[in-house]
Amino acid sequence: MNHFSKVAKEWDTPQKIDRNRVIADAIRKELSASNFNLRNPELEIMDLGCGTGILSEFFAPYTKRLIGVDPTKEMIEVFNQKFQGKKHITSECKNLESESASENMRDLDFIMSAMAFHHMKGPMQVLSKLKNMLKSEGKIFVIDLDQEDGSFHPDPEAMGVYHNGFAKEELQSWANELKMGLKHKIIDTIEKNEKSYPLAMAVFHLESVN
Ligand SMILES: C[S@@+](CC[C@H](N)C(=O)[O-])C[C@H]1O[C@@H](n2cnc3c(N)ncnc32)[C@H](O)[C@@H]1O
Repeated sequence: MNHFSKVAKEWDTPQKIDRNRVIADAIRKELSASNFNLRNPELEIMDLGCGTGILSEFFAPYTKRLIGVDPTKEMIEVFNQKFQGKKHITSECKNLESESASENMRDLDFIMSAMAFHHMKGPMQVLSKLKNMLKSEGKIFVIDLDQEDGSFHPDPEAMGVYHNGFAKEELQSWANELKMGLKHKIIDTIEKNEKSYPLAMAVFHLESVN
């Protein structure tokens, strides 16, 4: 049983909901600046490492198709309960590091992933798979810790942590390799252990890098 299997039922806390609200606002701001229409429920999107669906919930009203994907069965069970009866919202218990994408993981307007990339052994390989799931104007929002000193997680090994956040330079090197554009900004700060950990949003887009 992994760490997230044990904590799934108690995952949703006011603190996590507030953090995801900040993330959702930052994504919405970016989408509005790129002329995405957030008024009509037209968007087709995926939430990778969706957990219990806290971030998905903020986008549910704008979507005609939302897929939540997470390898932890117990997290997906809570997600499914939360969105019961909403036919446009589906989930898949899947690890894209080791499993292939499903048929419906294509023609997406955007993919968002909050605090999940540091749990991947090979995040760049996953990003490469995600790139193939996008529509031509599509974007991938990776929200994760900026590079930190390894003190954020109390027990990184038990919690399945493979990266101490990501430096902007590392994210840029992925974008270069995948021939994608990158926008990077710090959107929040998480206070913990009497320290401040910056939270970054990396927006990967399909336009080629100059
Ligand atoms: C810190 S939680 C974040 C959950 C949710 N995005 C949120 O912000 O509430 C990390 C999530 O990543 C998932 N995860 C672990 N390994 C993963 C992988 N290789 N690919 C995608 N998600 C993964 C875990 O199951 C867990 O639900």
